[in-house]
Amino acid sequence: MRTEFRIEQAFLIFLLVAKSNIDTIDSIIRLIMTLMTSHVFANTQMQKVASVFRRSFQSSTYVNEKVLAVLYPDPLTGFPPKYAREGIPAIKRYPDGMLTPTPKAIDFKPGELLGCFSGELGLRKFLEDQGHQLVVTADKDGEGCEFEKHLEDAHYVISQPFYPAYLTRRRMEMAPRLKAAITAGVGSDHVDLSAAMDRNIDVAEVTYCNSISVSEHVVMMILGLVRNYIPSYKWITKEGGWNIADCVQRAYDVEGMKVGTVAAGRIGLAVLKRLHPFDCELHYCDRHRLPKDVEDKYNLTYWKDWKDMVKEMDVVTLNCPLHSETEHMINASTINLFQKGAYLINTARGKLCDRDVIAKALRERKLAGYAGDVWFPQPPMEDHPWRTMPFHGMTPHTSGTSLSAQARYSAGVREILECYFDHEEIREPYQIVTNGKLAGAGAHSYSEGNATSGSEEAIGKVDK
Ligand SMILES: NC(=O)c1ccc[n+]([C@@H]2O[C@H](COP(=O)([O-])OP(=O)(O)OC[C@H]3O[C@@H](n4cnc5c(N)ncnc54)[C@H](O)[C@@H]3O)[C@@H](O)[C@H]2O)c1
Repeated sequence: MRTEFRIEQAFLIFLLVAKSNIDTIDSIIRLIMTLMTSHVFANTQMQKVASVFRRSFQSSTYVNEKVLAVLYPDPLTGFPPKYAREGIPAIKRYPDGMLTPTPKAIDFKPGELLGCFSGELGLRKFLEDQGHQLVVTADKDGEGCEFEKHLEDAHYVISQPFYPAYLTRRRMEMAPRLKAAITAGVGSDHVDLSAAMDRNIDVAEVTYCNSISVSEHVVMMILGLVRNYIPSYKWITKEGGWNIADCVQRAYDVEGMKVGTVAAGRIGLAVLKRLHPFDCELHYCDRHRLPKDVEDKYNLTYWKDWKDMVKEMDVVTLNCPLHSETEHMINASTINLFQKGAYLINTARGKLCDRDVIAKALRERKLAGYAGDVWFPQPPMEDHPWRTMPFHGMTPHTSGTSLSAQARYSAGVREILECYFDHEEIREPYQIVTNGKLAGAGAHSYSEGNATSGSEEAIGKVDK
């Protein structure tokens, strides 16, 4: 122990001396950080020293930083696309009064396709004008992928939950200079939060940027399943199809149904508000109870335990983050709590549910329908059972990446980067992990732990 401590102290002194020589710093950083994260020195003390080192350079004049963004591939129909509309409505504040992103400027037109490879989140000009480097890739899975190749000297990783670059502990070890993982969207479970805390890597997301977008998708999916929309659409697109009885044999009204959301954060509450005019019975559970005036206004019934709530519900919608407590919350045992003929909507995260349990519950008609846009892994393998199970209304992970949402999260990522470059604190609600601890939205909505398990195996299986 004493020897290790002396080695660490000696390293620190050496690093602080080295800091004064900016010209040779790049090679010194590489050498030392590689040593520090190698197996020889891979203990918690050394990782803490590494993080002090990294942060000391954050406030130095060393400005040429590498931003590594993983974005989904361009449309098969070509980029840029032919847009359906000229632009999007300007939204200045979210429903709780919080301002939408406020970067100093943007270099894109709101409504453009920014979330794909060529869209680059509209960041290139901003970064390169300041002397930073932007690397964008869509090659994120499997050993030797572009994402892994660029981790070595990346300072910031940007990833979208729709096409997640799983940032596991192993991958963090490949990124000795990483300061922050930024989620262009909401939901940072693709990052091993425990490892980020241990290595003092900040994790931030653009809280609220797409919460309303998702709530609209949830309402669409509830109506779609209950009213049997997709099968009816399919009947009419068949040549001469007019099979009313085939369409309506599984069609109901949501009016009068009991609808319950597991979590009533930004998305869950927005779902409840949107369903209120449908005259359903509205229920919710959450670790944080809503204010009484909100419960009264929307006539909400609060449940302490989601397991009690689902027993009573016709429709259940999952709107909590994926973290150590919620992983596989719907499993072979808890599926039995649901009413026969219940509908389940999950736009939160695929791993909240056991994949095979859901497929089986539909086949056995325990559930009347399942819809959502979140899978595990993403993209899912060709033979993922959710592609072909009966009575489903799945989409790829699109709800939070409408063109409207993209404008907000691209601006939000820029706002976060501006703060990091200017050594200013990012907005508190954007913080998930700060200085080695859950913070901001992270402290409110997540539990400590890691929900990336299985992603290493999943990404290893990807055919290239
Ligand atoms: N499909 C998409 O495109 C998409 C987009 C945005 C967010 N999401 C997912 O939805 C989640 C919620 O987003 P949000 O904007 O509402 O976040 P939020 O932070 O506003 O709300 C999350 C809520 O979950 C509650 N919660 C956490 N753990 C819980 C538990 N064990 N039991 C009950 N409640 C619990 C929290 O108290 C909080 O109120 C995100 O974390 C993400 O996983 C999906």
